[in-house]
Amino acid sequence: MLCIIRRHMPGEIPTSKFELPTVFVILGVTGDLVKKKILRALYHLYRKNRLPKKFLVYGFSRREFDDQMLKNYLLEIMKNNNFKEPAKYDLFLNAFHYVKGDFLQIDAYSELAKTLGNVDGEWKICSNKLFYLAVPPSAYSSIITNLHNSGLTVPCSPEEGWTRVILEKPFGTDLKTAIDLDTQLGKLFKEEQIYRVDHYLAKETVKNILVFRFSNTFLTPAWNKKYIEKIEVKLLEKIDIAGRGAFYDKVGALRDVGQNHMLQLLGLFIMDNPNKFTAEDIKKKRSEALASLQIMKEEEVVVNTSRAQYEGYKSEKGVFDNSKTETWFRIEARSNLPDFEGVPLVLESGKSRECDKTEVVVTFRETPLCLYEIENEQKNTFHYHIRPDEKITMKFFAKKPGYKTEIAEHELGFDYKKAYSKDLFVDDYESLLFDIIHGDQTIFVSTKEILSEWRFIEPILKSWYENNKPEMKSYLKF
Ligand code: BG6
Repeated sequence: MLCIIRRHMPGEIPTSKFELPTVFVILGVTGDLVKKKILRALYHLYRKNRLPKKFLVYGFSRREFDDQMLKNYLLEIMKNNNFKEPAKYDLFLNAFHYVKGDFLQIDAYSELAKTLGNVDGEWKICSNKLFYLAVPPSAYSSIITNLHNSGLTVPCSPEEGWTRVILEKPFGTDLKTAIDLDTQLGKLFKEEQIYRVDHYLAKETVKNILVFRFSNTFLTPAWNKKYIEKIEVKLLEKIDIAGRGAFYDKVGALRDVGQNHMLQLLGLFIMDNPNKFTAEDIKKKRSEALASLQIMKEEEVVVNTSRAQYEGYKSEKGVFDNSKTETWFRIEARSNLPDFEGVPLVLESGKSRECDKTEVVVTFRETPLCLYEIENEQKNTFHYHIRPDEKITMKFFAKKPGYKTEIAEHELGFDYKKAYSKDLFVDDYESLLFDIIHGDQTIFVSTKEILSEWRFIEPILKSWYENNKPEMKSYLKF
């Protein structure tokens, strides 16, 4: 039975109202996110004719820029980072304009509203408008209030001129602030206007998880506690905090990547079959999986978690001398989902580790009946490589050639980069922007998911930070 219903045929691009003229407003256009991610993603969509035919980008920031200065600034980024097809740079940048203003002040929005009104007047249409908050999360509350109060996010009508607001993780710094942000968003916008970004969900390998799990019959009967012994989600990085001390020291590894990217990955591995491939059904099952994680009591935190800081961390710029911030952690969680009761669900992440990889390892139980004597444990493992390798490999056993029956471990594998041409790959932010334009919220995070994630990690943070349990360990920086 084919349990996944396609939203549209592969390669088919939905048209109609998604093709309408669209204005991208980027708040914080001179910030890091634009420099590192958004500019490249927009440019690739442009090169591949995946943006609406008529589009404009308005940068909105405090810096003393004008249109030309913004274009020069962006051109430098494109050149320095060797964006493809330099011949197209200028044409692309022609779509960019600048509105100077302090996005924390409501007055600044009247200039923006006037400018966008003129655009609609010139185009003789009520354009679609997308507001990307590429700003520090501390500015979210003021900005969303101002966007709402200025009337900019009110669509012309249900049929004409959608408006969408895009926010990046972290959503809050704890459960309370996450609830506050969510309540505020809920008062100001409709859910279909809000796009909460966790870029891990947009990775090609991550988007494949459900397809892989639910399109392969042989996996279905084995995907439960009867056959699965353990699931491990690992996000290990060689880089250290890379000069982000002032930010990182307030956050730590668990809040930085555990509360979001890693729990999202875990959710995809244990969630039930959504039966339909729609945003609503998938998000419902993802959020049920996250809500099923058992909340730990302090004595369980002591036994099931560990944390460490790399040596020399306290000397990093922006880090407090007596910092208690973890740069590595390991958590063994449990789920109440009937299929996974009792199965250890391990999350491990660290900065400055000896290897650089994000992967999910599923270990199957030992074969109940061993036909032959073997020296080592005979367990199949299934490795889902997410970054930097993009592969799925499965360890299995086979007889070595020869007179005797000896068993050896082998590997079956699928490597994305070997199987598909480079041109087909779409990067995370390109994928996110494409889906925002097309109004598809599947790879965006829902409120329920975010709150379940905070509910799960909050007692752990409390035990670590308030009660110092378990004790902080240290490790050598790679
Ligand atoms: C970010 C974290 O959300 O994810 C970073 O803030 C981390 O600290 C990064 O390095 C990892 O993402 P990726 O896509 O590089 O694996």
